[in-house]
Amino acid sequence: MCGIVGYTGSRQALPLVLEGLRRLEYRGYDSAGIAVLDGAGGLKIAKKAGVLANLDGHLGSGSLALAGRAGIGHTRWATHGGPTDRNAHPHTGGSGKVAVVHNGIIENFAALRADLESAGTRMRSDTDTEVVAHLLAAAYRDGPTAGDLPACMAAVCRKLEGAFTLVAAHADVPSVLVAARRNSPLVVGVGEGEMFVASDVSAFIAHTRDAIELGQDQLVVITPDSAEITSFAAAEPDFKRFRVDWDVAAAEKGGFSTFMEKEIFEQPVAVERTLLGHFDGSGVVLDEQRLGVRELRTVDKVYVVACGTAYHSGLVAKYAIEHWTRLPVEVELASEFRYRDPVLGRDTLVVAISQSGETADTLEAVRYARRQRARVLAVCNTNGSQIPRESDAVLYTRAGPEVGVAATKTFLAQVTANYLVGLALAQARGTKSRGEVAWEYAALSRMPEAVAATLTVMGPVRDLARELAHSPAVLFLGRHVGYPVALEGALKLKELAYMHAEGFAAGELKHGPIALIENGLPVVVTMPSPKSRPILHSKMLSNIREIQARGARTIVVAEEFDDTVAPFADYLIELPRVPALFQPLVAAIPMQIIAAEIARSRGYDIDKPRNLAKSVTVE
Ligand code: AGP
Repeated sequence: MCGIVGYTGSRQALPLVLEGLRRLEYRGYDSAGIAVLDGAGGLKIAKKAGVLANLDGHLGSGSLALAGRAGIGHTRWATHGGPTDRNAHPHTGGSGKVAVVHNGIIENFAALRADLESAGTRMRSDTDTEVVAHLLAAAYRDGPTAGDLPACMAAVCRKLEGAFTLVAAHADVPSVLVAARRNSPLVVGVGEGEMFVASDVSAFIAHTRDAIELGQDQLVVITPDSAEITSFAAAEPDFKRFRVDWDVAAAEKGGFSTFMEKEIFEQPVAVERTLLGHFDGSGVVLDEQRLGVRELRTVDKVYVVACGTAYHSGLVAKYAIEHWTRLPVEVELASEFRYRDPVLGRDTLVVAISQSGETADTLEAVRYARRQRARVLAVCNTNGSQIPRESDAVLYTRAGPEVGVAATKTFLAQVTANYLVGLALAQARGTKSRGEVAWEYAALSRMPEAVAATLTVMGPVRDLARELAHSPAVLFLGRHVGYPVALEGALKLKELAYMHAEGFAAGELKHGPIALIENGLPVVVTMPSPKSRPILHSKMLSNIREIQARGARTIVVAEEFDDTVAPFADYLIELPRVPALFQPLVAAIPMQIIAAEIARSRGYDIDKPRNLAKSVTVE
């Protein structure tokens, strides 16, 4: 939700912390702030509402005043208190000697705040975080562990409820930073004579690829030469060292004007890398698959839980898994799942899909499922994040870092991974022969080529999108796997272009939504294949006729050489012919392009749409 970074070492902290914040800005851009320890008992702070560029501008030539070799920084997605200068992090406690940055929500902050206020503490912000800064300052000043910053931090963390990653700096210990986490991510970057802490590795990837991921309820004390990890709860520390397998180039724009654009063009590679190594000549193999064939064989029901775009990838999975395995599959919004008493048991497989691996709704759904004794398989893009850590097994999508807030390449990677889950289940259950599984896998392996071919024909789609920029709304229709594509198209348009957009199953239109059709309204229709889905194809042609008769402007996405559709399309987008189940991997691309291009024409920042953050760590 928020991005946090800390540095201690021999170099000036300010530029390194600002660089880290720039890479973490996708996590929130309501405000940015920084605190630097000057090494002489001073702690300097600068913070500003709005995007990081505002802080840069505010620092201007005054950045010399923030000289020092240790510092912490924060980029905010507001929860408690508006996006103002005064609510921007870092927050200070006591006499201003301690500074704290925070990602997450302190759920019991109101009670803690009331206690502090009744003891005479004057609050300077509306945030939950400030409470931590005051508690820490008080503990350091005259608590039972006074003068011991790590011990004070541990004691404060034990009083907190909710989700938090915290990093604290104290002017009395100028090269030491103390960080702690519960239900929010925290990684340490281990450099040569320098250490980093951050919400994710992209903050320090330009300086080191050696990292340590902290487990639940852990605390780390970093100095330039050491990182000492302990637990602030009863549990033993279970941190994990790893080496990041991508480099700084992956976290840069690489010549594109936006991250989203770059990520759209990385989709062939994202699909290819997600498939890589998952077929051993005789069958599909899943990595970190701690569920054996015997367990997969006993599965009698599959639930897919996810949010937003990941949920749409789960809807695609339903079609594939049911078709290949004959198992019933239910796809649930993670935010609804645990509140409606779903029927789960030991033989239920819950597939939790999440790019970030830290989405609170999905994480809570995973916890709920495990409490009900269901087996949980995570499909995740972020190595070692919380959702895979708490699941029985994980299948990583290897899309690389996705910075654009709107999910693009990770959608395609999730869809691909979900197909692998379906094939692994079909293989284990014997509903598909080894030969059939091999055939499907081979077809899937050709998809990166089809995705790349689709990207080459998007030029005219951009021109079309610019024409649509002034429409009041856009509708999206699909059938079968085209239905989740319609939902994803509408979501992309809403989040990027702030335009009213709805996705419908085309057959449902006549049950109400057709009343929305009026003269000139653009409707984007994803056509099923005339060869492999002839019945659906003809029904969809009828749906197009129905909306055209009512004045809709039809934008039809169809497979190449589908001659029947041209007369009904005011605008035709042709895609490579691919197996019917795999169509979302190509059909999602024009949806992404349309949304990005309309947003650009309307003058919006497509990497940082308003009100959003990349990972949503609140429920
Ligand atoms: C989609 O463009 C959004 N970024 C959003 O819907 C996202 O897919 C959702 O919040 C789930 O995130 P996750 O995959 O990290 O769990």
